[in-house]
Amino acid sequence: RMIVCTTINEARAQLAKRRLDAPEVAIGLVPTMGYLHEGHASLMRRAKEECGYTVLSVFVNPLQFGPNEDFDRYPRSAEQDIALAEACGIDLLFMPTVSEMYPVKPLTSVIIDSVTDRLCGASRPGHFDGVGIVVCKLFHIIEPHRAYFGMKDAQQIAVVKRMVDDLNMPVEIVPCDTVREDDGLAKSSRNVYLNEQERQQAVVLSKSLQAAEHWLREPGMTAERLAGMVRKTIEEAPLAVIDYVELLTYPDLSPVEAQALLPNYPDTLIIALAVKFGGTRLIDNRLFIPL
Ligand code: PAJ
Repeated sequence: RMIVCTTINEARAQLAKRRLDAPEVAIGLVPTMGYLHEGHASLMRRAKEECGYTVLSVFVNPLQFGPNEDFDRYPRSAEQDIALAEACGIDLLFMPTVSEMYPVKPLTSVIIDSVTDRLCGASRPGHFDGVGIVVCKLFHIIEPHRAYFGMKDAQQIAVVKRMVDDLNMPVEIVPCDTVREDDGLAKSSRNVYLNEQERQQAVVLSKSLQAAEHWLREPGMTAERLAGMVRKTIEEAPLAVIDYVELLTYPDLSPVEAQALLPNYPDTLIIALAVKFGGTRLIDNRLFIPL
């Protein structure tokens, strides 16, 4: 049966016992902010397949929300999260309070440069500092062998991977595919904010990225033209307000020269976008791996 811990000491005690009983068993961690959906479930199932002991963390981390963002209204559903975690076979659910994780304001920062310069790093100042510190803390509390992250947040994976490499953290970062609704919209806890019209129009995000996959292979296609075509497609949805649409290298997240020819580009590329529908900001992306 799944064990639920709300304190760091309890979680550590459970893990210590487990390590003593079964030192060879790999520990897998899935960090989340809860309001769990099929995307989170796919990470949990993958962790379950690859690790003998699985830990899910549910913590809405105030440090990664800006002052005008949705921390207070971020959807929460402890009961349902517990049920889904148990159904996915999670062994330990770690759900700390804010004061448990941050008894005092941390004086220590985890700042990852360069890969945070663009995309969500640029439009949400401080966001990845908050992600960096909370993921670092979770890695120290749980000490997982592997940690599972969704490619829906591709920049987050690049940032966490860089932190782990730079600081020699003994954890393997496992990227997992984006889970989508039937019409292609990437699953997200924030999709509940969308009204019916916004929800219908939001399909333009995955549609435009899918189209980009084909456009990219057209002879003579350039970075500038491709980003322009994606922007134009999204603008056809009347309720869409573009935050960014960018074509970058992955995982370095450096810009591709505007005139560069794409069909035979040597690096892995990502098209990433953030678009607002009403008050709801949605993100999605697609990787292009050279042939
Ligand atoms: P959250 O948004 O709850 O997402 C938790 C994990 O689930 C992330 O790795 C995210 O990429 C993954 N995920 C979300 N939607 C997905 C989808 N449709 N398909 C596949 N994976 C998906 O990301 C965070 O929380 C936080 O920043 C966190 C890492 C927990 C740090 O606070």
